[in-house]
Amino acid sequence: MKVPFLDLKAQYETIRDEVAVAIQQVLDKTAFAGGPFVAQFEKDFAGFCGTKCAIGVGSGTDALWLCLLGLGIGNGDEVITVPNTFIATAEAISYCGATPVFVDVKEDSFNMDPELVRAAITKRTKAIIPVHLFGQMADMDPIMEIARKHGLFVIEDSCQAHGAEYKGKAAGSVGDAGCFSFYPGKNLGAYGEAGAVVTNNEELDRNIRMLRDHGQAKKYYHGMIGWNARMDGFQGAILSVKLKRLPAWNEGRRRNAHLYSGLLAGVPGVIVPRESEHAKHVFHIYSIRVKNRDGLIAKLGEKDIHCGIHYPIPIHLQDAYKSLGKGNGSYPVTEKVTSEIVSLPMFPELSPDQIGRVVEEIKRSL
Ligand SMILES: Cc1ncc(COP(=O)(O)O)c(C=O)c1O
Repeated sequence: MKVPFLDLKAQYETIRDEVAVAIQQVLDKTAFAGGPFVAQFEKDFAGFCGTKCAIGVGSGTDALWLCLLGLGIGNGDEVITVPNTFIATAEAISYCGATPVFVDVKEDSFNMDPELVRAAITKRTKAIIPVHLFGQMADMDPIMEIARKHGLFVIEDSCQAHGAEYKGKAAGSVGDAGCFSFYPGKNLGAYGEAGAVVTNNEELDRNIRMLRDHGQAKKYYHGMIGWNARMDGFQGAILSVKLKRLPAWNEGRRRNAHLYSGLLAGVPGVIVPRESEHAKHVFHIYSIRVKNRDGLIAKLGEKDIHCGIHYPIPIHLQDAYKSLGKGNGSYPVTEKVTSEIVSLPMFPELSPDQIGRVVEEIKRSL
């Protein structure tokens, strides 16, 4: 029995007819770039997140970048984030001219350690970007408290956390803004590239709407220098179809995660992910920790069980960020967990038999 890391086809089969109708509607209206289907999705997604505004853009990277630009962050500014994330978090900071300043994560959640944020604040700091890694929100209360005290913006990198909650509040709705990716493999995935910013800040909403469309609020009247980062119409229509299913899909992921954790409990040498008491984890990634990570992945691969590593090299050790001068040992918790993590197959349609097989092979391989 093959166990893929992800099976987008299995999910597509359950919504094939609805997606076909949605695509046909976009074709009939020739609403390809932005337009009514994107506007409808923005309304739906703002409702889902509990924010006043949602702005559809071209990707999660665009969402982070335009959000920083829309808040006026640029040359000479510093933005605090974590090195244990996908590189886009840092790229967005660099691409608006600011510098990423990293703080380490907590070992039990893989998320930003709020205790370390205060010491990283300088006169140049303008914002904090906690990353809700793997589908679990960072500990937002202390982060918000520090940010308010120092007059800093908080942008939630919610690219892996669609529908996750912190003390009952949805990802993206706690800080000044939340940025989402709808890359196909995400909990809410488009059938192409797409992203969104959610916010209650109407000025930021206006800025990002202009920035994503060449700085124009009225066609050919460019009030600022913008970019082309519009969401495409097909993605808006497909995302509206998929958003209705997201709560059930997230429940499926949670059920699968609990099954894994139950079966792996007490297996020597395996640390299962922990759901913090303040969080509703939506398990975009289900990541265990083991000592011989590469050996385990190779052995599971031989048995047709496909795993991943999110992420094998922390940002501060990537060649792209050598110039920050942060070598080995700079962020010890990040470095430790990134050398031990293994992402097991995880998607809502994963069957109990498949999960049982993965666990059996892990036990045999360790
Ligand atoms: C934490 C995080 N931030 C940002 C991004 C960037 O999103 P996108 O790939 O849609 O540009 C991703 C996507 O993988 C992500 O996981």
